[in-house]
Amino acid sequence: MGDTKTELVVDTRSDTYNIERLSFQAMLESNHPEKLLQSFQPFIELMMHYECALMEVETKLKVLNKEFGLQHSRNPFEGIESRIKDPISIIEKLKRKGFPVSIQSMEQNLFDIAGIRVICSFPEDIYNIAELLIKQDDITLIQKKDYIENPKENGYRSLHLILDIPIFLAEQKKHMKVEVQLRTIAMDFWASLEHKLKYKKDVKNADEISKQLKECADKISQMDFRMQEIRNQIEKN
Ligand code: GTP
Ligand code: MG
Repeated sequence: MGDTKTELVVDTRSDTYNIERLSFQAMLESNHPEKLLQSFQPFIELMMHYECALMEVETKLKVLNKEFGLQHSRNPFEGIESRIKDPISIIEKLKRKGFPVSIQSMEQNLFDIAGIRVICSFPEDIYNIAELLIKQDDITLIQKKDYIENPKENGYRSLHLILDIPIFLAEQKKHMKVEVQLRTIAMDFWASLEHKLKYKKDVKNADEISKQLKECADKISQMDFRMQEIRNQIEKN
């Protein structure tokens, strides 16, 4: 079949990639369903490698959180969320950025296929955790964007790290890239709301809303640092 639809549907919420959800119609229509399935194998394997890399980084973060908790009687993390970028977004991003759509290109050009978001209580915790993570000897820092020190024009604040981490498979050691976003609860609260504005089409008073959001971002930042100061005063006692 010349133009068989070979859409791959991957359920990123499940632990394993759900091959059954491969576009069933395409399978039925294909003269060589087994070949079609085989052709997805490298992609499925690569996604599994990203999942392993996520597990590695997530474990490292949880270890740091536990140790810090024991030493300081408080946990610096409010939460950790991780996700694998969905296949459609991967393809869209490659096309948008003018890169070839291939397995090799995904690995070479996209650094946010595996992503972890760490929500911290205070800005200081963000920098402490980032430093402790980066200095681990199996981790290499590829890129750091400090949108707390240098907020985006819209007011967005977070610390973004692109890390290289090895995963140990049966037959090979492979280096993977993982994006880590660290932000405070307040920054996260702001980013979720701002995200809604970005993805909602035809918002009538978008300029006015952006202005209000920018004001909130600045106030939130002041409050984050004020709360941190208060915490430091309490801890000094
Ligand atoms: P992308 O092509 O979106 O990955 O941008 P980039 O590669 O230049 O990376 P950057 O570090 O600027 O942003 C990466 C991610 O941070 C995004 O995919 C979002 O999850 C988040 N992010 C960046 N800027 C904003 C923003 O202005 N608002 C919100 N809500 N999230 C943002
Ligand atoms: Mg990105």
